[in-house]
Amino acid sequence: MASQGKCVSFSILLSLVALLSFCKADTSKEVEALLKWKDSLPEQSIFESWYFPVHYNNSSTPPSPCKWFGITCDMAGSVTAINLAYTGLRGTLQNLDFSSFPNLLRLDLKFNNLTGTIPPNIGMVSKLQFLDLSTNSLNGSLPLSLANLTQVYELDVSRNHITGIFDPFLFPDGSSQSKKGLVSMKNLLFQDNQLGGRIPEEIGNLKFLVLLALDGNYFNGPIPQSLANLSHLSILRLANNELSGQIPAKLGTLTNLSDLRLLTNRLSGVVPIELGNLSSLTVLHLAENNFTGQLPPQVCRGGKLVNFSAAHNSFTGPIPISLKNCPSLYRVRLEYNQLTGYIDQDFGVYPNLTYIDLSFNKLRGELSSNWGQCRNLTLFQIAGNMITGRIPDEIVQLSQLVKLDLSSNQLSGEIPEDIGNLSKLSLLNLKDNKLSGNIALGIGKLSNLEFLDLSMNMLSGPIPDQIGDCLKLLDLSLSKNQLNGTIPFQIGNMVALQDLLDLSCNSLSGQIPPQLGRLKSLENLNLSHNNLTGSILDSLSNMVSMTDINLSYNYLEGPLPAGNIFQSAPPESFSNNKDLCGKIKGLRPCNGTAMEEQKGDRKKNRKLLVVIVSSLAGAVLVSLIGIYAFLLKKKSLNHLMKVEHSSKGKDPFSIWYFNGKIEYEDILEATKNFDDMYCIGLGGSGKVYRVDIPGYDVLAVKKLNFQARDYSEIEDIKHLGSEVAALTEIKHRNIVKLFGFCSQGQHTFLVYEFIERGSLADMLGSEKGAEELDWVKRIRVVKGVAHALSYMHHDHVPPIIHRDISSKNVLLDSELEAHVSDFGTARFLNLDSSNWTEVEGTFGYLAPEFAFSMVVTEKCDVYSFGVLALEVVMGKHPGEEVLSFQSGAVGRIQYKDILDHRLSPPESHNIGVELASIVKVAVSCLSPNPQSRPTMRTVSNLLHVYADCP
Ligand SMILES: *[C@@H]1O[C@H](CO)[C@@H](O)[C@H](O)[C@H]1NC(C)=O
Ligand SMILES: *[C@@H]1O[C@H](CO)[C@@H](O)[C@H](O)[C@H]1NC(C)=O
Ligand SMILES: *[C@@H]1O[C@H](CO)[C@@H](O)[C@H](O)[C@H]1NC(C)=O
Ligand SMILES: *[C@@H]1O[C@H](CO)[C@@H](O)[C@H](O)[C@H]1NC(C)=O
Ligand SMILES: *[C@@H]1O[C@H](CO)[C@@H](O)[C@H](O)[C@H]1NC(C)=O
Repeated sequence: MASQGKCVSFSILLSLVALLSFCKADTSKEVEALLKWKDSLPEQSIFESWYFPVHYNNSSTPPSPCKWFGITCDMAGSVTAINLAYTGLRGTLQNLDFSSFPNLLRLDLKFNNLTGTIPPNIGMVSKLQFLDLSTNSLNGSLPLSLANLTQVYELDVSRNHITGIFDPFLFPDGSSQSKKGLVSMKNLLFQDNQLGGRIPEEIGNLKFLVLLALDGNYFNGPIPQSLANLSHLSILRLANNELSGQIPAKLGTLTNLSDLRLLTNRLSGVVPIELGNLSSLTVLHLAENNFTGQLPPQVCRGGKLVNFSAAHNSFTGPIPISLKNCPSLYRVRLEYNQLTGYIDQDFGVYPNLTYIDLSFNKLRGELSSNWGQCRNLTLFQIAGNMITGRIPDEIVQLSQLVKLDLSSNQLSGEIPEDIGNLSKLSLLNLKDNKLSGNIALGIGKLSNLEFLDLSMNMLSGPIPDQIGDCLKLLDLSLSKNQLNGTIPFQIGNMVALQDLLDLSCNSLSGQIPPQLGRLKSLENLNLSHNNLTGSILDSLSNMVSMTDINLSYNYLEGPLPAGNIFQSAPPESFSNNKDLCGKIKGLRPCNGTAMEEQKGDRKKNRKLLVVIVSSLAGAVLVSLIGIYAFLLKKKSLNHLMKVEHSSKGKDPFSIWYFNGKIEYEDILEATKNFDDMYCIGLGGSGKVYRVDIPGYDVLAVKKLNFQARDYSEIEDIKHLGSEVAALTEIKHRNIVKLFGFCSQGQHTFLVYEFIERGSLADMLGSEKGAEELDWVKRIRVVKGVAHALSYMHHDHVPPIIHRDISSKNVLLDSELEAHVSDFGTARFLNLDSSNWTEVEGTFGYLAPEFAFSMVVTEKCDVYSFGVLALEVVMGKHPGEEVLSFQSGAVGRIQYKDILDHRLSPPESHNIGVELASIVKVAVSCLSPNPQSRPTMRTVSNLLHVYADCP
């Protein structure tokens, strides 16, 4: 038995030897080539099996690499496959002599660390069918010799650093018997390289192509029409290139196409309706191009669509009905388009849907309760539309939900009580809606929440203590609501808080809880515009990461803590409190109170000063008709006036509505009889003088260019005077205080509070001033003017129209806070001109209806305010641009494009938001139709909601 077995083995061996010796020359060439390559590479363990005994010398034992790691041979012992994928292989291909492998069918080196170029002699392995060099670090261009690889059906060079162009030479020519080029190609993958130039039309000659992946290169020019010839094409990936032009309509003939990715190119025009014929479509990516027109109406015709994205284009019209009945959908991205229509009618039930983003379109309607049945939804975003109605309670059934963003809509009603069921929620953004009611206690159950923004709603009641259970929260904003009660000390438990804690613009009271000191990672704390009282405890110094703090507009008192942020924050951070002290500019130092007392004294003086003593004011009829009659006389008055209320009894022809403490003579003396030396401004109506009278606050006196000519005019002036007397009663922090009126001697003048920093126009006109007036201050200026106008139009009886709002009439105090001057006096300041109506109002701020109607309404002020607000944002009068703002381009104006470039763009997101809303509100004020302009009350409220709060 044994000898017989031996005999059989021997004969097998003999035949093997015969076979091997038959191919001997070739295999030794392969061995040599492999060893030579190995020797050229850095030492690496994968090659441990690649060796021959040292005494190998062309003797009887034929060399065979067939058992080497990664090598496969055919029956004859010739190498047919080299597979070193995923081995960490390092080095280059330069020393691999491809001509030594006549039988090589597969070369798979993917996922390694190969460097250098693809050597030209790769074209010598002419039997090769499969070549995968993907995910290496190969560079250089594609060798033309690849055109020799006519048998290759899969070529994958993706994820390398290949440069250059796609030479048409690589592809077969049009003839059916083509012998050159990648004629057998089915799967061609070049994605994520640096290839450029056009995609040659010749690519359409690869008639067996099933998969073409060219995404992530720099291909430009049009999508080749010839792709429509590739009837087997199933996957076409051209995303992330620089392709332009339109989608060829003929692509609609590719009935096997199931995956079409064109996102992030420069494609434009209307998406051809023919794409609706692609009945195999499962993936369609059109996002981030410049497409216009409607979404392809039949997009889900095949009923297989799983992944559809058209985000960041300019698509218009409604969401296609085809999508409404498309239960196969998994992922939908339509954000940032101009889609219209009613969403409650557009969406059905999508059991597999995991992701849908419809944000920043113009969608209307209410949220359907159907959304509650999309049980696999993880992301639901529909921010920045015009959605109304309530948040359906069914939404709390979406137990997989991670992100819910319904911000910037018009949702009303309450936040669903069981919102806490959404236990996976990481982001909840309901900002900028009209939600009311209390914040649901269940919010504390959202233990995975990282971002919570409920700001700019009408939420009321207290902040629930349970909020402190949201231990992963990084960013919390509840600002601009009507929340009251105290700040729960449990907020101090949210030690993960990092980006923002914003409770500003509410009605929170009580002390700032010392537990907030535990928020050591918090960078931005805003508790401004509340009713917080007490002192700021030292424990807040522990908030060591803080870079931005705002505690202004509260009733805080006492010394600032020692912490860094309390030493370095700008004065605005603590302004408008009860009595804070510290080393920061604008606060009194904590030890000395002397300065404060002195200031108080001066205030008292001023109070005395402003009391109007004129009994006459009451006696004279306040008659608008009289004033108009007077105004329309347009006469120059040059007579002295009769004594009405004499000062020092010297001059029998004087009118003096003032407190009796300061005399006409005091003013003459302080200005050396109106010497130009004291002149601080020159307006159409007259000069303005600075008046320093010892013991009083500085005054500004505006001397008018007219004098009374006869007694009847003196009567008129009396009326005028009494009207001014009424104006002196006005007290508003954003309106320049008018103290009195005087007509005596040759002079008629108005006495005002002195505002230190002069006019907004001058400030914006100077480089330095513009820089000093940073974004925060500018926002405050706009707000201040809005409040002043709102007060005069809606809170003052009778309402007073300014008529001449311009940057010259807005003065800035030492803190650069706005004070509107000449309120109610504008119409008699220009008496001397030949036609008062013409010059009333400043050109460039005048409402357009003024040209054909002389009727002055509050809406004229609203228009001027719009111009002024834009001027503040732009740093210059908008001039002709007003027209483009009016022309319905409202939605398209990016506030960023018009910002005063002398300031660097706002760093803080909040400031950006505030500026954007100012621009939005300002543009609405510029409506050519006065009825369409908002009232100043609305403007002021909008700025209150959007921008800041008084
Ligand atoms: C191979 O490349 C990867 C990715 O570039 C890198 O992380 C790894 O360190 C490299 N390995 C070697 C051995 O060079
Ligand atoms: C193409 O293949 C043939 C035959 O194997 C060879 O002679 C020729 O040199 C190759 N051409 C290139 C460009 O590699
Ligand atoms: C889209 O078109 C607009 C104007 O038509 C152009 O400014 C913009 O650069 C285009 N975007 C791309 C990505 O080509
Ligand atoms: C939802 O997904 C499941 C699993 O992938 C699949 O079997 C089912 O057909 C899908 N449903 C629809 C309506 O497409
Ligand atoms: C939700 O997704 C899971 C897999 O994540 C799947 O098995 C299930 O079918 C989906 N649910 C529905 C209602 O389709």
